[in-house]
Amino acid sequence: MTNGNKRNVVIKGTGHAVPTRVLSNFDLEKMVDTSDEWIRTRTGILRRRIADEHTATSDLATEAGRLALEDGGVSPEQLDLIIVATITPDMFFPATSCLVQKNLGAWGAACYDLSAGCSGLIYGLDMAMHSITSGAYNRALIIGADCLSKITNFQDRTTCVLFGDGAGACLVEGADRAGVLASYLGADGRGWEKLLIRAGGSRHPASPATLEAGWHYIEMCGNDVFKFAVRIMVEASLKVLADAGLEPEDIDLFIPHQANIRIIESAAHRLKLKDTQVYVNVDEYGNTSAASIGIALDEAARSGRIKGGDRVLLVGFGAGLTWGAMIIEWVDKDND
Ligand code: ACO
Repeated sequence: MTNGNKRNVVIKGTGHAVPTRVLSNFDLEKMVDTSDEWIRTRTGILRRRIADEHTATSDLATEAGRLALEDGGVSPEQLDLIIVATITPDMFFPATSCLVQKNLGAWGAACYDLSAGCSGLIYGLDMAMHSITSGAYNRALIIGADCLSKITNFQDRTTCVLFGDGAGACLVEGADRAGVLASYLGADGRGWEKLLIRAGGSRHPASPATLEAGWHYIEMCGNDVFKFAVRIMVEASLKVLADAGLEPEDIDLFIPHQANIRIIESAAHRLKLKDTQVYVNVDEYGNTSAASIGIALDEAARSGRIKGGDRVLLVGFGAGLTWGAMIIEWVDKDND
């Protein structure tokens, strides 16, 4: 959808949080049959952050959310809505967003979680935008947060080298001017088995047998996800560009989901984007799932890589299968 003439939303603040513990490719060499060279050339990842045993998704989400509120100059009591996008909630229920609300003291906020894998932050931003432009809410905190290390089999070299933990947050507020120029979400449930945790839900409740089978760990068809990712990132980006009446060269910063440098480069190449238009931090954090786009957006905003008036294209793909793309016209908070 385009968001031309009606009430809009702007991103008032951003924040991110990552654990302090660094797990390098060299550390992984000691854990599984892999090499720094293989991981670097196949994925672009050099290191990732891993949460300790006492840290859960809500802890990272709370810190990212707190920083976004501080950045936007908004107090927790002023929030109407908290959405946490995650596939690694602290527990099945209650929602992780309720724990974040408690930690922040955001007593006026309605809370829910959403599960859209690595597309989660864009799904959350889109949902918040519609909630705000409808007039129902005015301020929302959207947090993409995951601790994939908690559901990763560190004996499986095909998955354990890819993932890291973190959280990225956006504070969104109603406005009467440009903000979100276009937004597009999609899903194809026929790909549900490409990326999943098989057990622990109502189909295969956790049992000694599911534990024995390792069904509490991430399973992934890496090659299929790779091909899907490149195709859908290009398609979704072209769709929002067309909806906003823009060309790829009009984009100041392209922030793709950080899963694999080869996926990012293939998509950027097909979109004819220059290297200077593309944000990359997969080398530092690996694939942090729903957190990845939020971490990148916050880093880009705080480092001055995005300035007021810039057009930022976010695009993600993930378990479901799901995808989402959004073009945002950035608001310079200092001149707001
Ligand atoms: N170290 C060394 N060798 C390895 C490793 C490793 N860590 N992992 C796999 N290999 C081997 C394989 O066993 C295979 O060996 P073989 O040829 O003897 O069978 C060989 O390397 C090539 O394996 P491929 O799977 O073909 O390697 P590919 O180049 O496709 O890279 C990768 C695999 C990195 C997983 C890639 O497919 C990818 O990035 N896919 C997308 C993943 C993704 O984006 N997932 C999103 C999930 S996020 C979410 O929603 C939770």
